[in-house]
Amino acid sequence: MTTKSFVIGHPIAHSRSPLIHGTWLKAYGIDGSYEAIDVAPAELPALFARLRGGEFAGGNVTIPLKEPVFALCDTVDPLATTIGAVNTLVATAGKVHGFNTDFMGFLGNLDQQAAGWSDGLEEAIVLGAGGASRAVLVALRERGVKKINLLNRTAEKATALAQAFGDTVHAAPWTAFGELAPRAGLVVNTTSVGMHGSQFSDLALSKLPKWALVTDLVYVPLETPFLAEARSLGLKAVDGLGMLLHQAVPGFEAWFGVRPEVTPALRAAVEATL
Ligand code: ATR
Repeated sequence: MTTKSFVIGHPIAHSRSPLIHGTWLKAYGIDGSYEAIDVAPAELPALFARLRGGEFAGGNVTIPLKEPVFALCDTVDPLATTIGAVNTLVATAGKVHGFNTDFMGFLGNLDQQAAGWSDGLEEAIVLGAGGASRAVLVALRERGVKKINLLNRTAEKATALAQAFGDTVHAAPWTAFGELAPRAGLVVNTTSVGMHGSQFSDLALSKLPKWALVTDLVYVPLETPFLAEARSLGLKAVDGLGMLLHQAVPGFEAWFGVRPEVTPALRAAVEATL
């Protein structure tokens, strides 16, 4: 019997997930499907009834449903609760389990593009205090980064998020970047700056150590001005497309029983749609 899965959102037409999972289904010769279903928040209970009924093995969840699905899941993984969003559903024996795989996507991308990046990493700087930032904080905490400096344009949001995360995360003013940079082995942009050619005007990347890694969650464009500047300074820079590809891995494995690989060919296929 064909194993079915989905991505739900509203709207859903622009999701790259069907291309990613479709490529893997074909590559591994699996009798499965992955379809994009437009589901408005009010239609979620009906979709969950289909999941509990065994029609689907599970699926992905995107905007604006990542928070509304919480209340409908039978269990939610503690890390998804910390991140505040569920992006992956797994149905087993009439129950629906919610997970968040964004932090694994972040880690998988850096592990592939910059192997060993977290070995002995003492300090990092995270820019932005929105939803994407929470997934990155969870990821860095999982890897044992000792001190995470959280900088946000609106300082109060960084303070509130740092408090929610406890000891390892420290809120600092945006203007403290230059002061913190010399000790930072990693800088992550989780803000929307970089989309549509926008750029930071006030970050002294030149103050980072020469061995620092710089990464951006923005992947349209692939090479943001932030990453371009880092590269021009001789720093290692990793773009955000890999996070999108790697966050899809755990869901596929849970639904179809094969841990899929993020290959250059998959990356090229998705890149061609950007
Ligand atoms: P997401 O869920 O993708 O993280 P979000 O919750 O809307 O999206 O958060 C967007 C982040 O980008 C915020 O940290 C926001 O800063 P504010 O809290 O000050 O709004 C940040 N951001 C957006 N535009 C920015 C800009 N021009 N300069 C600096 N930060 C910006």
